[in-house]
Amino acid sequence: MRRNVVQLIVIGVVASAIGIAVAFSIDWFPKQASTQAKDIDGLFHVLLVASVPVFVLVECVVLFSVWKFRMRPGDELRDGPPIHGDTRLEIVWTTIPAVLLLGLCVYTAVILNKIERAPKHGTPVLNVNVVGQQFTWAFQYPGEGQQKVASAQLYLPTNTDVRFHISSLDVIHAFWVPEFRMQIDAVPGNPTSYRIKTRGPGTYAVVCAELCGLGHAAMRNTVHVLPKPRFAAWLAAKRGPAAAGNGGARRSAANGGTTNALAAGKTVFEGSAGCGGCHTLAAAGTKGTVGPSLDSVLKGSKRSTTFIRESIVKPNAYIEPGYPANVMPQNFGQTLSTKEVDALVQYLQKVAK
Ligand code: CUA
Repeated sequence: MRRNVVQLIVIGVVASAIGIAVAFSIDWFPKQASTQAKDIDGLFHVLLVASVPVFVLVECVVLFSVWKFRMRPGDELRDGPPIHGDTRLEIVWTTIPAVLLLGLCVYTAVILNKIERAPKHGTPVLNVNVVGQQFTWAFQYPGEGQQKVASAQLYLPTNTDVRFHISSLDVIHAFWVPEFRMQIDAVPGNPTSYRIKTRGPGTYAVVCAELCGLGHAAMRNTVHVLPKPRFAAWLAAKRGPAAAGNGGARRSAANGGTTNALAAGKTVFEGSAGCGGCHTLAAAGTKGTVGPSLDSVLKGSKRSTTFIRESIVKPNAYIEPGYPANVMPQNFGQTLSTKEVDALVQYLQKVAK
């Protein structure tokens, strides 16, 4: 009996060590782009170290018993000896899991408290509203007074405490940037929030992590974490579109307006509006199939700029046969500036001929 237990323990320890080594050799996570990410990854690795030996131990006992105590010829009609409860054994197998579970609960609570803790009083916090709707995200920043500044893409400064206020206009979505690690549901009628502190500059995907309808897989935007001065410049330009607009117009006039406007339109298509997630357009190399292919609907019969503009800002005004209404986001008129919509219309009319 004692020999069996010693054998089992040796096998269990070796298999656990191999299991943990394999688990640690896997690169589980993308880049750590928030200060919270490090603690969350640490928690994951502690859970791995705690759970791999439990899994290995259970498997070892099962396989070891099958091998060691298998039925041999002549055993067919024999029954094992009757066994009564073993109080000592029961105390051991109740206490060890209870202590393990309690320890992990306390550690998890400590980490949760740490990643959700508000920054020290007086630390500047950037408040960003995140609005989910089928099938895109929109972002709002504090503007002048009560005014809000809208953006179709998420822009954040480096090394800054950010608090996201998350809401939904229709069904339940979930706001997730894998590189920030944090995730929370966007629930209609029940605003939620979480905070992160950004780190260095980078560009990551904003993902919807809750099945929300036909376009769920295409509900992706981009987050740009910019050095603080560049972020400040971006926000200033967004806050005062008149000032930025004039500068832009002067620049494009000097460089030959049309080429620049087309490039700007392509940027909106690929970047700020993210049209390619749902629409196929050969000129931009996109292959989305949630919405109609722009190559076919805009081809041949040259569509008017009025029609193209309406299809972007009021997508339900005309629905292409075979496609349901309400799938395209209704708010591009708010999240894109007039200049961006103009550029996008001009780009689409030009490339889809
Ligand atoms: Cu929104 Cu899935």
